[in-house]
Amino acid sequence: MADIITAVAPVNIAVIKYWGKRDEELILPLNDSLSATLDTNIMYAKTSVCARPDFATDEIWLNGKKESFESERLKNCLISIKKKAAAEKSVNNDFLSWKIRVCSENNFPTAAGLASSAAGYACLVTALAKLYKVNSDVSAIARLGSGSACRSIYGGFVQWCAGVDPQGVDSFATQIVDSSHWPEMRVLILVVADHKKKTSSTDGMKISVQTSELLKHRVQHIVPKRIDEIIDAIYDKNFSKFAEITMKDSNQFHAVCMDSYPPFSYLTDVSHTIIQLIHSYNKACGEVKVAYTFDAGPNACLYMLQSEVFVVISLLKHIFPSSNPEFVTGLTFIPEVPLST
Ligand code: PMV
Repeated sequence: MADIITAVAPVNIAVIKYWGKRDEELILPLNDSLSATLDTNIMYAKTSVCARPDFATDEIWLNGKKESFESERLKNCLISIKKKAAAEKSVNNDFLSWKIRVCSENNFPTAAGLASSAAGYACLVTALAKLYKVNSDVSAIARLGSGSACRSIYGGFVQWCAGVDPQGVDSFATQIVDSSHWPEMRVLILVVADHKKKTSSTDGMKISVQTSELLKHRVQHIVPKRIDEIIDAIYDKNFSKFAEITMKDSNQFHAVCMDSYPPFSYLTDVSHTIIQLIHSYNKACGEVKVAYTFDAGPNACLYMLQSEVFVVISLLKHIFPSSNPEFVTGLTFIPEVPLST
């Protein structure tokens, strides 16, 4: 009987966004990015893999539905892990030649800008690494599935270094600090809409790289400075500095989407209301207590310290009562998510 290997991988939420590739196939980014990896208790992908000599083909099921294994990204991840296993001689060649079955599920909306592909590919690569007994860093392999997936391989605050090598050997993720460094940090996810986004991040990035002047400026002059500043803010546990950079970077990423031609937008009226609400709240507090950030979708991720969670949830529930008919899909609160170690 062949072993079934199961892995769980969490979502990560970028505070300095990755947007734009310099190599589409190897998924090499134009700029460094930085994120926090959430605890696996609430939002995660779970993947089981199994290899057997009697399997005729590689097969995959995603959220209960059989999907094609023909995706280049999927195949690249499998080939790269097998290459690593062969180099490390961690399993024998017979085992490497067997076909596999993959079964993966997310416990949160797929492709609604909630980093589902990041958790999904990080999980697949972690499960495959266990199956083939690979011991070295696999974040560069997760990157081949979905760029941001490389950051979900590690917990705490994680930086993905863009690197300069054309083959991407220096484009991988490293942990800045683990979650014990800043144990009061919390993330609140507000699900504004859970349907699939119109412009995928892959398509959106292509349009921005080809047309946005703002993206060029951001990559050259803004992100390098912001990465240094936010790492300092994390080391110093300077929440208001951390929050200000996070919000500015989210805003600039969405401005790049609007600066692309044709423009596209991931934010909805509800997202904009949340942005204004957070600024009003911070103003009323007299200091920056909460930060918002939005990925390629309308859902808000709010960073705050534990001491703020109760008041912020009460405020959001007051402003967005679930019975409000304006919100067709409603606002769902995923309880605050502590960072993973
Ligand atoms: O990894 P992708 O292709 O899903 O791109 C993700 C891009 C953003 O979520 C918008 C930003 C980021 O750094 O996670």
